[in-house]
Amino acid sequence: METVLEILKKTETFFKKYGVETPRLDAEHLVAHVLDCNRMQLYLDFERPLQEDILEKLRPLLKRRASREPLQYILGTAAFMDFELKVDARCLIPRPETEELLELVFEETDGNIGSCIDLGTGSGAIACALARKYPGADVVATDISEETLELALHNAASLGLKDRIKFVRSSWFEAVDQTFDLIVSNPPYLSDAELNEIEPEVADFEPAQALSSGPTGLEAINELISNATKFLNHGGSMFLEVGSNQAQSILSMAEKFSNVKVVVKSDLAGKNRFVTVRAVD
Ligand SMILES: C[S@@+](CC[C@H](N)C(=O)[O-])C[C@H]1O[C@@H](n2cnc3c(N)ncnc32)[C@H](O)[C@@H]1O
Repeated sequence: METVLEILKKTETFFKKYGVETPRLDAEHLVAHVLDCNRMQLYLDFERPLQEDILEKLRPLLKRRASREPLQYILGTAAFMDFELKVDARCLIPRPETEELLELVFEETDGNIGSCIDLGTGSGAIACALARKYPGADVVATDISEETLELALHNAASLGLKDRIKFVRSSWFEAVDQTFDLIVSNPPYLSDAELNEIEPEVADFEPAQALSSGPTGLEAINELISNATKFLNHGGSMFLEVGSNQAQSILSMAEKFSNVKVVVKSDLAGKNRFVTVRAVD
């Protein structure tokens, strides 16, 4: 019978052949998943023989990963901020950049948020983080996809936030009928050219509507910025995650609107990944 260590080595070689970027790490996650233990426990149990029933569970998962399905979809969960979310093909896997967006939001707003909205909520990541951070706030979360909203609702319920977040099916602001102190969104922002270059994990598995909103990649961002003042309370702010090469186009586009001040902010790597939008009096 093969041991944990032998299976890990074999899987690493198998994943390398299929271009998986972190073959050993992913092998460890998947073996730990079928053994229902954490990765560190594997290190204490390298010589443990793996029974056939475990291997039977493992094989289809390894095939899925070799086909470049994202690890998080196979495991069924993703860590975000200080909580866990269920993730599957209905949602984008929440990214570390979006955690940075929220850190910027928390830094730049005082605790005095009475109402906020997450537009294009996906897994519910941003809405859940906002509801946890601002316990007194009304939180709204929208998405264009009904099935994505079902997943976001499931995640909110698992975190005890079901009654804190109102989920609304809406194309951006279309079905939104109130104003907010805070508007946050990580909209789809890849251009057609970028879509042709992304890795298979994203292109073949993540929902197309989570990646792109039109050929230039700026369509959703334009829609959000152009509606900002209509949906912001006096003194309120909008925070968006954007593509690292979009800052200049966004600033030029924002010049058309005399009533907003748009500021570009960089992430920890120094890339221009965020914009804030505020009304000018
Ligand atoms: C980049 S994903 C972000 C998901 C999540 N907020 C996150 O940060 O992980 C964009 C989300 O916007 C949604 N979306 C796409 N077009 C939309 C539209 N017209 N109106 C509302 N949501 C839309 C997608 O379904 C997807 O869930």
